[in-house]
Amino acid sequence: MAVRESLGGATVVVGCGGIGSAIIAKLADQGVPLVAADIDYACAEASVANLHTEALAHRVDVTDEASVAALIAQAHAAFGVVTRLVYTAGIIHTGNFLELSPHQWRRTFEINLTGAFCSIQATARHLIENNQPGRMVVVASVAGRGPRADSSDYAASKAGLISLVRSAAASLAAANIQVNAVCPGIVDTPMTHSIHRERAARRGISVEESLAGLADTIPLGRIESPQEVAEAIWFLLSDAASYITGQALNVCGGLAFD
Ligand SMILES: NC(=O)c1ccc[n+]([C@@H]2O[C@H](COP(=O)([O-])OP(=O)(O)OC[C@H]3O[C@@H](n4cnc5c(N)ncnc54)[C@H](O)[C@@H]3O)[C@@H](O)[C@H]2O)c1
Repeated sequence: MAVRESLGGATVVVGCGGIGSAIIAKLADQGVPLVAADIDYACAEASVANLHTEALAHRVDVTDEASVAALIAQAHAAFGVVTRLVYTAGIIHTGNFLELSPHQWRRTFEINLTGAFCSIQATARHLIENNQPGRMVVVASVAGRGPRADSSDYAASKAGLISLVRSAAASLAAANIQVNAVCPGIVDTPMTHSIHRERAARRGISVEESLAGLADTIPLGRIESPQEVAEAIWFLLSDAASYITGQALNVCGGLAFD
């Protein structure tokens, strides 16, 4: 059977923080037209500044399905059919399990999981309407592989995201739409620094001490760069991954093995 040709069309990246900006830069290097979307418009704008590709910034709130639908419509109008989606939007906070409020639990799920569901569903509907194949990659986490005593809402949302990817992949394979996840470990981004500010304050140590303690627990001995996550996302978006769907790829320096 022939391997299908490279996907044309537009790529939408949802979430333009540390990992989002790195995959946007990678896509731009490959000349892929893209829309960079974030609830923080300034962040989206900064991620596409000075790129050597066709790129637009867009404000999206992934907790609002109309906002997600408008994003796909805008990308289609600007660059043609949206054949690739990267979902990196996410939040985390840390704290005692007994003090975690249902409000915070729901908020984490809304952004980390329901937002991904709405984005995958909207993109899949769009692809099927336009009779095109597509590839989607969501950023889950090794936190979805096991327990997290001080961020149970986050770990549960990421476990749900891995499950969502499997179900979406099974459901959409017949339409030639592939859905995969990457599971980073500890990445050098604003999110990691904010967690370590909270942890360091609770433990009475410096942020640097908190981060150094963490690096010692990683078999490869260091925190990963956003670019290392972006390379794995790019692989799953590319024709090199033409026969991979429904998988969650750990990109974590050996922090997790299943
Ligand atoms: N940093 C890490 O160590 C790490 C490890 C594993 C997984 N991850 C996951 O990778 C993804 C990206 O993480 P990052 O480190 O780049 O974080 P980041 O905080 O730098 O970026 C996350 C982005 O999501 C956006 N966002 C939040 N709420 C939104 C909403 N309602 N609508 C649209 N956008 C919204 C934020 O504005 C932000 O730009 C997250 O899903 C995170 O859980 C990160």
